Amino acid sequence: MELSHLPVMPKEVLDLLGVSRGGRFIDGTLGLGGHAELLLASSPEVQLLGIDRDGEAIRHARVRLERFGDRVRLVRGCYGDMAKFAAEQGWDHVDGILLDLGVCSGQIDEPGRGFSHRFDGPLDMRMDRRSPISAATLLNENSEEELGRILREYGEERHARRIARAAVERRQTKPWERTLEFAEMANRLGDRRRGGVPPATRCFQALRIAVNDELGQLQKALRIAVILLRQNGRVVVISFHSLEDRMVKHFFRAEAAACVCPPELPVCNCGKKVTLRVVTTKPVRPTDAEVAENRRAASARLRAAERP
Ligand SMILES: C[S@@+](CC[C@H](N)C(=O)[O-])C[C@H]1O[C@@H](n2cnc3c(N)ncnc32)[C@H](O)[C@@H]1O
Repeated sequence: MELSHLPVMPKEVLDLLGVSRGGRFIDGTLGLGGHAELLLASSPEVQLLGIDRDGEAIRHARVRLERFGDRVRLVRGCYGDMAKFAAEQGWDHVDGILLDLGVCSGQIDEPGRGFSHRFDGPLDMRMDRRSPISAATLLNENSEEELGRILREYGEERHARRIARAAVERRQTKPWERTLEFAEMANRLGDRRRGGVPPATRCFQALRIAVNDELGQLQKALRIAVILLRQNGRVVVISFHSLEDRMVKHFFRAEAAACVCPPELPVCNCGKKVTLRVVTTKPVRPTDAEVAENRRAASARLRAAERP
């Protein structure tokens, strides 16, 4: 994995997490340790638990963060299980949680991982290579209906059914194995009119989300964040596509609501508690200067919420 990954919106992340005061933080998407390094360097009072499901990312981050000694602990696993990992450290509450979603540029640019529709490689896309289900498994074993659902829901591809049908037809003679074969078919049959984004981009995103259960992980992590954060502790989430950003926005809004009674009830009797305060009413976007330096930042949207 190449090591040039620049952390997205670094200043905004540090400010919103309030790391200069020190405390216990979880970086649920450690990656190459870019954000983690900034957090640890911003105060000698910061302790960090870094989680990543990718063994290679953990190896790189371990070297990068070595100088922080026992202020940093790294775990290979899913951020959806962060409560368990925190408990293993003896942490019952934390001051901040960071999720910088998706994959690192190093993972995308490595043809052998199968994340990119631009390079020939195996149809893999597993962030954790110990997981039994790859993109090829999905394409070769799922029903036409399920494939269509994945491409439509996670890729927002209008011609999802047509691609799913062709995928199932083709595997009768030759199982799916290579990225470029699937990319060619997606680009030939997909909706080419949508915003200049090649259909293969959307279909690869869909398969990646399904292979790694990305939305299930995010939902689980958000629920756990509410329990793990101490008073005034914050959760910061950086998303790169609208499905994730929508999930974060709706979750924060629902937790921040003081009442869920039907509007026709004259007096509130729902007993709903406010469990989060929204800190960013609108998503924070990177500056033009950052995007010029770091293309990956272009689609980033950051949202933060605080435990009251
Ligand atoms: C965009 S990168 C993070 C980059 C990091 N913030 C940095 O500055 O170097 C996202 C990382 O999250 C990891 N990841 C994605 N989903 C995960 C999950 N559910 N559990 C743990 N790690 C996950 C990926 O393997 C990847 O290394």
